[in-house]
Amino acid sequence: MLFKLSSIVATALAAASLASASAINLEQRQAPAAACTFVANPSGTPDPSALLFSEWNFILGRNLADHVPPSTIIRNGNSTVTGPDNTGLYTIEQTIAADALTTAEAITVVTGWVGETFDGPWSGVAWTIQSVTC
Ligand SMILES: *[C@@H]1O[C@H](CO)[C@@H](O)[C@H](O)[C@H]1NC(C)=O
Repeated sequence: MLFKLSSIVATALAAASLASASAINLEQRQAPAAACTFVANPSGTPDPSALLFSEWNFILGRNLADHVPPSTIIRNGNSTVTGPDNTGLYTIEQTIAADALTTAEAITVVTGWVGETFDGPWSGVAWTIQSVTC
């Protein structure tokens, strides 16, 4: 009887440690998204019919995909775009994440885009990244 009880306890402990190990793995695969703010300078006036949130979802997702292995799931949020401000700049807020990257790695990738220019597929302008803060 005592022997049986101890084997039940041992089994329960083993199951508990398996459960916590898989929770840790899940956390590693899905790092918390980084909330990032991009300031961008357009080469001209964006086509007013272009949906800028959609354009930035595309630009940021496409370029993040270049930094991860093929078929890695990108988990960026939906972008919010405001602008132009009184100096012609636009501000884009988006959460950034990909399954292959830690939060810190994702931040390193996107903050490395300062000074880069990305073509807007729908607005007809090229956007130069002025600053990135996460
Ligand atoms: C993304 O944001 C835009 C602009 O606020 C909104 O129109 C659109 O429905 C949102 N899309 C999703 C999937 O939340």
